[in-house]
Amino acid sequence: MNASNDNRQPAATRDIKVWDPVVRIGHWVIVIGVFAAYFSGDDWQGIHVWAGYAVAAAVLIRIAWGLVGTRHARFASFVRGPGAAAGYVRGLVTGRAERHVGHNPAGAVMILLLLASLAGTTGTGMALYAVEEGRGPLAGIIAMAPEDGTQANASSEAPRGADRDDDDDEYEGRGEHEVGGEGGEWLEGLHKFFVYLTLTLAGLHVIGVIASSLAHGENLVRSMVTGRKRAE
Ligand code: HEM
Ligand code: HEM
Repeated sequence: MNASNDNRQPAATRDIKVWDPVVRIGHWVIVIGVFAAYFSGDDWQGIHVWAGYAVAAAVLIRIAWGLVGTRHARFASFVRGPGAAAGYVRGLVTGRAERHVGHNPAGAVMILLLLASLAGTTGTGMALYAVEEGRGPLAGIIAMAPEDGTQANASSEAPRGADRDDDDDEYEGRGEHEVGGEGGEWLEGLHKFFVYLTLTLAGLHVIGVIASSLAHGENLVRSMVTGRKRAE
């Protein structure tokens, strides 16, 4: 028999559909995109930028889906206060954490932090790309308003920082080039800050996923692939 979508029924062992394809595909696009962007970092800028765009698109779609998506995808269905999150973590430690069919309250806090950190990472990446190269979606907004003569110009006459006359040799190499002016250095620092914040949060997130899986005797990673979880 087909399981119905009403998972409030006190069914004992049946599986129910919890994560829709937007959530699942979005999640794995983000994971692959973050690592592809991280490892392409300096050396393969084409891959770096497009992996970053894929992450940014997935994050924007996920935020919209959190407002209008399916039941368990909605922020309103799983975001609780910090007290509930702390209570869940305490429960994990004492072995009395309550199982949630959707995201648990601590996972919910982590999800909001991850989405914010990913937005910061991709936003600062695009800003850096605009200032440094005069390219990308923010080029018209950021690089068109130089504070001093050192920033790359957004217009097509200055692709890849061609207007810089200092450090030119270094700048031409794709790898270790200097960024344009103080704004660029500041942005590069901020981009790196968000990158490492994201990676730290992701590490804690995976620890949380493993801890919850063990606590409730279920494989949450498989659920993020199949979309299905135990009903009870
Ligand atoms: C860069 C690394 C990662 C990021 C940024 C990330 C981000 C996220 C986000 C935003 C969600 C919420 C899903 C949603 O409701 O749309 C989530 C959930 C989840 N992630 Fe990740 N994730 C990362 C890596 C991983 C890895 C490596 C695994 C598996 C080992 C994993 C397993 C899961 C699982 C199982 C859930 C659902 C948790 C639950 O059942 O409440 N994630 N992740
Ligand atoms: C999750 C997404 C992203 C991750 C994990 C990431 C990661 C990184 C890393 C590790 C670096 C090298 C920092 C260093 O020099 O040590 C870097 C640099 C950079 N990123 Fe990203 N990035 C992401 C998204 C983006 C996006 C969306 C853009 C632009 C569209 C972008 C543009 C840049 C630029 C222009 C640099 C400087 C390269 C250089 O001057 O050598 N990044 N990023």
